[in-house]
Amino acid sequence: MFAAAYRTRHCAELRPEHEGNTVSLAGWVSVRRDHGGVIFIDLRDREGVTQIVFRPEENAAVAAQAHHLRSEDVISVTGRVERRSEATVNAQLPTGAVEVVAAELRVLNKAEVPPFPLDDPSVNEDLRLQYRYLDLRTAAMQRNLRVRHRAVKATRDYFDAQGFIEVETPILSNPTPEGARDFLVPSRLHAGSFYALPQAPQQYKQLLQVAGLEKYFQIAKCFRDEDQRADRQPEFTQIDVEASFVGQEDIIRLTEGMLAAVFQAAVGAEVATPFPRMTWHDAMNRFGSDKPDLRFSLELTEFTDLFRASEFKVFRSIADGGGAIKALRAPGLSPLLSREQLKKWEEWVKQEFGAKGLAYLRRKDGEWDSPIAKFMSEAEKTALVERTGFTDDDILFFGAGPWDQVCETLGRVRLRAADHLGLIKAAGDRREFLWVTDFPLLQFAPEENRWVAVHHPFTRPNADDLPLVDSDPGKARAVAYDVVLNGVELGGGSIRIHERDLQAKMFTVMGIGPEEQQKKFGHLLKAFSFGAPPHGGIALGLDRLVMLLCGAQSIREVMAFPKNNRALDLMTRAPLEVEPRQYRELHLQPAAPKG
Ligand code: AMO
Ligand code: AMP
Repeated sequence: MFAAAYRTRHCAELRPEHEGNTVSLAGWVSVRRDHGGVIFIDLRDREGVTQIVFRPEENAAVAAQAHHLRSEDVISVTGRVERRSEATVNAQLPTGAVEVVAAELRVLNKAEVPPFPLDDPSVNEDLRLQYRYLDLRTAAMQRNLRVRHRAVKATRDYFDAQGFIEVETPILSNPTPEGARDFLVPSRLHAGSFYALPQAPQQYKQLLQVAGLEKYFQIAKCFRDEDQRADRQPEFTQIDVEASFVGQEDIIRLTEGMLAAVFQAAVGAEVATPFPRMTWHDAMNRFGSDKPDLRFSLELTEFTDLFRASEFKVFRSIADGGGAIKALRAPGLSPLLSREQLKKWEEWVKQEFGAKGLAYLRRKDGEWDSPIAKFMSEAEKTALVERTGFTDDDILFFGAGPWDQVCETLGRVRLRAADHLGLIKAAGDRREFLWVTDFPLLQFAPEENRWVAVHHPFTRPNADDLPLVDSDPGKARAVAYDVVLNGVELGGGSIRIHERDLQAKMFTVMGIGPEEQQKKFGHLLKAFSFGAPPHGGIALGLDRLVMLLCGAQSIREVMAFPKNNRALDLMTRAPLEVEPRQYRELHLQPAAPKG
């Protein structure tokens, strides 16, 4: 019930049992139809739609008023609830058995013609973002925001029930290396100094463990200056978690419980736990991805051994030089792709992943149609067929080169083939959760000529691999894990280093010298020297989680006011230029004009 000034009911409420009641409704004019003087209006509020009828023979003045109504006008109507005749019942609508016969109409605000028809799925996204407040009126966006609300509420309820405490951490903070570029905020009070917006609350949540909080979570805003994609925004939200005296199994179980609770509360879906697990190495080796989409099979097959003895020199020299040769069988793809299309796929892998090529093998009318068949012996072709189960409708794609590049390339070919074959569509609303574990601890960054953390520098090395950290850093595994859903990385975390000396040593391995350690991480190292408990945690991308809950294709669909793919807020036009005075206050100089 509402204060009767505007309405006594909402627009999804009325049923035949309300017949004869006098009610008031308020909302937006969704559609207006003129049936020879009788005017029908679909009145919309956030709950739903109710049909309003204006009958000139009953109330000529109000009907005349209704004649001037246009889409998106805001009105309040008072009238009598009537049952619709059998023939005019709208079974699609919860209120479709009734209508309100208007006795009184108040126009609360007129609307200009909207720049696009609401609910038209073909509207250009930039236009939607420019008028986001109109776009958000659509049923789809209202639903997405509600699912998001329920997901957040279920998250808070879950962690509260588990004894976790939500603690806010600073937005104006210091840089935390999570692998992206920082957004910096110049300090007015301290010339030449900058705050960094947090890429994640990583150091704070660890410091809260040193502080004895034991169980922390936060719905946390994070900021990363990186290229935008469908599942990446410069500003996004994490479900951020950290706990003391825990190991990997504790965090995994806690997260599975949370995801089950959230799916249940937000969309009424059952999620089966525990989730399957796969090591990072297996995920890469078998599916060519550290976040494999397991809604379809399509696995890579190993052929390095075969080509070591081959006459095909290109592949043989790669195999001899320590590289890998793998193939992906795409069943049934051959009739769907022309040679020209295959050429385009090859161009794509060369450009996107630096692959040297995308050799393929297929058979048409008993003849090989392949740029490499002529280099291979009959025995080799037989081995290829036998090892992969190749049939005449299939295409075998080959990758040859460094192991990680081959895996990544074929992993992306795998996804493209699955999409082409309609396997993703055919999976419907299937959900394939997966834990990927045993990530590598370090990877070499050639452009910086140093080892960098794969997850972040606070991640604990696997105890068995500690000697490798010195002898063969690339081989050491981390106690780090990602949770994946349908090929999307939902979240990632790790057990942390809690010993001062081990943390300092890891910084050193990553080429961060004592001075830089003190400057950037002195507070953390100091904190660890005052009794830091063993601890670990995880962070899940809330936007990605809600995107998957809603079946949306982009996280922009589940954020009220996202940036576009060029990091612009098209509605407010941020980022904006600022006055010279503001530069001076911040001790900055405007960039020299280009050219
Ligand atoms: P990580 O960097 O893996 O881990 O981030 C955790 C999760 O946050 C989401 N995410 C994003 N979502 C939208 N836009 C982005 N630009 C974006 N970047 C990341 C992803 C990702 O899995 N501090 C660690 C966690 C930890 O160790 O506890 C961290 O931030 O879903
Ligand atoms: P080439 O002899 O270099 O013309 O290569 C013959 C075929 O093998 C072409 O179709 C190339 O795309 C493919 N090819 C060459 N190098 C590689 C590689 N490293 N990985 C996958 N395919 C390759």
